[in-house]
Amino acid sequence: MTENTLRDKVAVVGGGEKNLGGLLSRTFAEAGAKVVVHYHSSESDAEQTVKAIQEAGGQAVAVQGDLTKVADVRRLFDTAVDTYGGADIAVNTTGMVLRKPILETTEEEYDRMFGINAKAAYFFIQEAGRRLNDHGKIISIGTSLLAAFTDGYSTYAGGKAPLEHFTRAAAKEFADRGISVNMVAPGPMDTPFFYGQETPERVEFHKSQAMGNQLTQIEDIVPIIRFLASEGWWFTGQTMFPNGGYTTR
Ligand SMILES: NC(=O)c1ccc[n+]([C@@H]2O[C@H](COP(=O)([O-])OP(=O)(O)OC[C@H]3O[C@@H](n4cnc5c(N)ncnc54)[C@H](OP(=O)(O)O)[C@@H]3O)[C@@H](O)[C@H]2O)c1
Repeated sequence: MTENTLRDKVAVVGGGEKNLGGLLSRTFAEAGAKVVVHYHSSESDAEQTVKAIQEAGGQAVAVQGDLTKVADVRRLFDTAVDTYGGADIAVNTTGMVLRKPILETTEEEYDRMFGINAKAAYFFIQEAGRRLNDHGKIISIGTSLLAAFTDGYSTYAGGKAPLEHFTRAAAKEFADRGISVNMVAPGPMDTPFFYGQETPERVEFHKSQAMGNQLTQIEDIVPIIRFLASEGWWFTGQTMFPNGGYTTR
């Protein structure tokens, strides 16, 4: 039986419509939270997630937004305040991956990658810091590539890397209000996000690097975020690497 430890809490989930964010939205709702389900282009996924939550007796609302635009980030939190009277938990699962050598990367690709992976993450944390109730929880999603020494992911890992510092600074700056700020950095996760830039051989390699010769499942990561969003308030300014022992050479 699920404990309703998030009863009457309000959670804003960036990229909350599908994959990791979709399961997180449903899990928060099952635990009693009211959920603001953000989506970018996948309206039907957002509708399905909201419908599933409502059919299970929960409350959720979908909000579209391009989170590289600060006005859209603010509108997301406005929705939480206008619909549910405030927000207690803010998780940003948005991101974009590119595997490409530095010598071939264009200015446009660099700007796009840093726009969603770094800029959107920064202003999401900023707005959460402004709008969350005291004792709120802010969680960003990084990547285990932050602890790796590998090729091809300069703008992805590089775009996510600043989140470690955004997280630390925000943890200090919001601490007097009891708000914890953390980042969860999974290993390669079995979602469509992962496969586009990997060959079958590399998928097998990635599997071989973790416990049980398998990729991370979204079900492996959600309980960790759930913990940080409920019980884990004394853990702040940190990056967790839940990756099944994954290492990259
Ligand atoms: N899958 C992996 O191997 C893996 C491993 C480690 C960490 N991660 C991280 O885990 C998080 C979730 O990934 P996932 O695997 O669950 O894939 P996902 O569902 O594709 O998550 C990425 C989300 O970011 C959204 N997004 C992209 N550009 C946006 C923009 N400009 N404005 C607002 N939202 C935007 C996407 O929406 P649209 O699709 O509509 O653009 C999508 O909802 C990501 O931050 C990713 O970097 C993934």
